[in-house]
Amino acid sequence: MFPEVRLRRLRQSNGIRRLLSTPLPGPEKLIWPTFVIPGEKRREPIESMPGQARLSIDQLLIDLAPLVQTGLGGILLFGLTDPSEKDPHGHAAYAPQGTVQAAVRAVKEAFPQLVVIADVCVCAYTDHGHCGPLSSSGEVDNDASLAILQKVACSMAAAGADMVAPSSMMDGQVMAIREALDAANQTRTLIMSYSTKFASSLYGPFRDAEQSTPGEGDRTSYQAAPGDLRTALRESEFDEDEGADILMLKPALFYLDILTQLRANTDLPLAAYNVSGEYAMLHATAERGWGDLKEMVRESMLALSRSGADIIITYWANQYEQLLKD
Ligand code: PBG
Ligand code: ZN
Repeated sequence: MFPEVRLRRLRQSNGIRRLLSTPLPGPEKLIWPTFVIPGEKRREPIESMPGQARLSIDQLLIDLAPLVQTGLGGILLFGLTDPSEKDPHGHAAYAPQGTVQAAVRAVKEAFPQLVVIADVCVCAYTDHGHCGPLSSSGEVDNDASLAILQKVACSMAAAGADMVAPSSMMDGQVMAIREALDAANQTRTLIMSYSTKFASSLYGPFRDAEQSTPGEGDRTSYQAAPGDLRTALRESEFDEDEGADILMLKPALFYLDILTQLRANTDLPLAAYNVSGEYAMLHATAERGWGDLKEMVRESMLALSRSGADIIITYWANQYEQLLKD
């Protein structure tokens, strides 16, 4: 007790504070989510996500070279397709010559050691913008979605993706994908499941980037309810039982309690997805002069590490040198 014990002793100098701190994650812990578009020499900045752009494959390779050099942990690829290719089922998501499939092949060829993860969903490929085909009642049809997700996952594995990341929150998606990958002899492909993914208000900039806002309705009937902790935890437990290799929580910063609980409940590796709205929030604050971008980014990355994330999926990953390096 005070006065013998003085906690300020433990933070009196930078040297001591550094010794006692959870380390800031290095570049090898970070996964950069990025958006690929068809064509060549195309670079479309995303207004709501400064520092991010939709890139054609040649441009993606240019941007990746220095990041791979500094030790980036991996990339998570999202694709866009021409609106004329969109249909009710999202067939374009599993075209063998699709944009993401081609990007996976090109990136693995250029940077064989880089971990390449492909998102597995159809919302950027369906004309209605939902994460699966709709039943006659207008709901997303869970079991019909599974058959499509299997095809998407197999097409990504065939292109050479190290991991597939199913993000549609359909029941049984991990089991269905594992079965399909095994049947295709893709036993090495990891499944990083978006196991607890909330129906969040923080996906706006991403949907803008991906042109994947649902035309009608929202995603509350398939994504987890922000107020229902127990079901959210069960979502991850189920995915573990179904054979997920890595679990993921998304969004990250409003859900640190869940991250800590997941960490206590499982021995699987855990990823936290620091989503587009979290990225935009810090940018908007910094732009108004209400906070220092670098300080805010570092503090938020520390929070995710401290709370138990092994892997951090973050748009800051392409700015590691400027924002996170000591
Ligand atoms: C779609 C998907 C979304 C994100 C990743 N995959 C948006 C959504 O569910 O509507 C959000 C990522 C972000 O906001 O950074 N399956
Ligand atoms: Zn989706």
